[in-house]
Amino acid sequence: MTTNSTLTRPLTATEAIESRRSIRKFVQEPINQEDLHEILRLASLAPSAWNAQTWRFAVVQNPEIKAQLREAAYGQAQVTDAPAVIVVYSDMEDTLQTVEETAHPGMGEAGRTGQRGTFDRAFGTQEVAQRGAWGLTQANIAFGFLMVAARGLGYDTVPMLGFQPDKVKEILGLPEHVQFAGLLPVGKRAEEGFPHHRHSVDRIAKFY
Ligand SMILES: Cc1cc2nc3c(=O)[nH]c(=O)nc-3n(C[C@H](O)[C@H](O)[C@H](O)COP(=O)(O)O)c2cc1C
Repeated sequence: MTTNSTLTRPLTATEAIESRRSIRKFVQEPINQEDLHEILRLASLAPSAWNAQTWRFAVVQNPEIKAQLREAAYGQAQVTDAPAVIVVYSDMEDTLQTVEETAHPGMGEAGRTGQRGTFDRAFGTQEVAQRGAWGLTQANIAFGFLMVAARGLGYDTVPMLGFQPDKVKEILGLPEHVQFAGLLPVGKRAEEGFPHHRHSVDRIAKFY
């Protein structure tokens, strides 16, 4: 168990999912850096097609940069209230340039060559924006894992898409082609948030 958590053990997946809710007011203390690293490591265990791992994380704790992000997020106060903001984006161009890294080492050189061939065939003739959209579908999986991982270690989050992407790219010095899964303020809750309000399973599921 991590050093700064108020929990005596990590929550189970069920407990983390049940108790996660969007939190927009946070305890004013820095986030434990080991916990932060562990949350990112857990999120990186998310699955992705061909193990592409298109997600990238920009972790912002610097107050001045958080203030700039808040401005890019239409002034939403949770961005500066949280001790850390994780910007989750997909970088499909980096993924393609370094795709051999994602081949399982157990597959050896043949695996690396195979991975390169797979990605070149699938994406080599696509426009950057089109393959970027595919990359984002993968990064969104890690975005979900990140929220559950944070909650599992006793932290709270609020996913956010209410921001101007071009401004965030400029603030963080990110290339034009990246696509955002979202901003994720992270910290310990200083409010209870709202109880879940969801469709019933019968409303959203069909069984065949
Ligand atoms: C992709 C995404 C984008 C969101 N963007 C914002 C946002 O910009 N600002 C905000 O306050 N909440 C945002 N939310 C939070 C939702 O309002 C919230 O998840 C939803 O109402 C369900 O509540 P819960 O998270 O407490 O279960 C976003 C949620 C998601 C998943």
